[in-house]
Amino acid sequence: MSKPEYVGAIDQGTSSSRFLIFDKFGQVVCAHQVEYSNSYPKPGWVEKDPLQIIESVEDAIAGALDKFQRQGHNIQHIRAVGITNQRETTVAWDAETGKPLCNAIIWSDTRTMDLVRRLCKEAPRDNKDYLHKICGLPITTYFSAVKMLWMLENIPAVRDAQRKGSLRFGTIDTWLIYKFTGNYMTDVSNASRTMLMNIHTLKWDETALEFFHIERESLPEIRSSAEIYGYFREGLLIHTPIAGALGDQQAATVGQTCFEAGQAKNTYGTGCFMLFNTGEEPIFSKSGLLTTVCYQLGPNAKPAYALEGSIAVAGSAVQWLRDRIGLIQSAPEIGLLASQVEDNGGCYFVTAFSGLFAPYWRDDARGCIVGLTQYTERGHIARACLESVCFQSKAIIDAMKNDCGESLKLLKVDGGMTNSDICMQIQADILGIKVIRPAMTETTAMGAAFAAGLTVGVWKDVDDVKKLASSDVQIFWPTTTPQEREEMYAGWEKAVKRSLDWA
Ligand code: G3P
Repeated sequence: MSKPEYVGAIDQGTSSSRFLIFDKFGQVVCAHQVEYSNSYPKPGWVEKDPLQIIESVEDAIAGALDKFQRQGHNIQHIRAVGITNQRETTVAWDAETGKPLCNAIIWSDTRTMDLVRRLCKEAPRDNKDYLHKICGLPITTYFSAVKMLWMLENIPAVRDAQRKGSLRFGTIDTWLIYKFTGNYMTDVSNASRTMLMNIHTLKWDETALEFFHIERESLPEIRSSAEIYGYFREGLLIHTPIAGALGDQQAATVGQTCFEAGQAKNTYGTGCFMLFNTGEEPIFSKSGLLTTVCYQLGPNAKPAYALEGSIAVAGSAVQWLRDRIGLIQSAPEIGLLASQVEDNGGCYFVTAFSGLFAPYWRDDARGCIVGLTQYTERGHIARACLESVCFQSKAIIDAMKNDCGESLKLLKVDGGMTNSDICMQIQADILGIKVIRPAMTETTAMGAAFAAGLTVGVWKDVDDVKKLASSDVQIFWPTTTPQEREEMYAGWEKAVKRSLDWA
């Protein structure tokens, strides 16, 4: 009898680290999650000790392996591990000691607002899109290169390491691969979020490096999303290969098997990110969407590109209502509260805590709740919070239509917030198209597992992977008329204007 085969996936997110083990049929055998919080030392700052990130991943692995063994499985049967991670978050460390030189700057951090202004001024024609055709991205606080430059300008230890030639920068995939295997590598999907990779050649780009004053030696080698980056040097997974790496949103696109151009998914996590697979050629948006590498499944495979609409705040607004405001005791309560009211009662909540991302790209926008009256109750605010991410998703779909001329017929969704039926119904009602939620919502981890499993031959090819996609889905149908949708959205646009006016 042949040996059973399993694939592990590290899912290193903004607010938790998880380790999941999948069987050959794409089913989750066991999983363990370690939640953590980031620190917010000043308004707009979001950071985390990189060593604590490693610890949380190690704890997640240990927890899942413990469950795996208790179920009678053998760790030796885990053929490979894939990594998927929060993107853009930047770590700096010294190669001589392997120790971080400062806290990781999290993707949603806006401390670089002034630096971004300066960089835009330095760019020809004061143009935030100066590098757009090279890297697919505008100059904003979101991407890694700006965070690296901030570290160089503000952290003496980072500058010293650069002088000594021992400075190493990395996104979270790179930091994990480095710590677990000793190798210094990244995958194309993560590299495409730095602003430093040329989206056409998939290599570090000289113009971008020079613009941000980053040295080539401080950056990892760029590899495909499905190959062996190295082997665990110690611990329970010793000698197991890390054989797949994908930014979390790209991984969810793979996990939802959006392998054809024109297919799209929307993941509602800490933030919310919609990716449209655009096939083998990068497409450049005129409407505020990002161009990004979706995946490259093997060193000799062609890359697939995506247009992305990024929303900075989704689940983190629910967390904020729970942890900072005390409106709810637990995250699922938001749905219960929201369903106690018929509509938003005229109340709109623009959750612009890190400015507004796509398609607005205004880092000076600030959060606001508008339309309050004596009639407003907790349920209206809860509902307005859920609606905020749904309205922003509509703005992204409209931008997509503007760019490609085609309307989306359906939306595949996943991520924590999609557990809320009312949230998904609101989404269908705002968009006027059906929203499809798979029964298996672990699509992000699954994407990473697919990449690793393809590398080591657990699955033969993409067709093999497609067969694993479950047909078990729930569909949310729109119940609104076009006029109702228009009215709801008009209110949202007025509220966004208030958020932008605040600057
Ligand atoms: O670009 C940031 C994104 O990768 C973070 O994902 O799941 O933590 O919202 P998430």
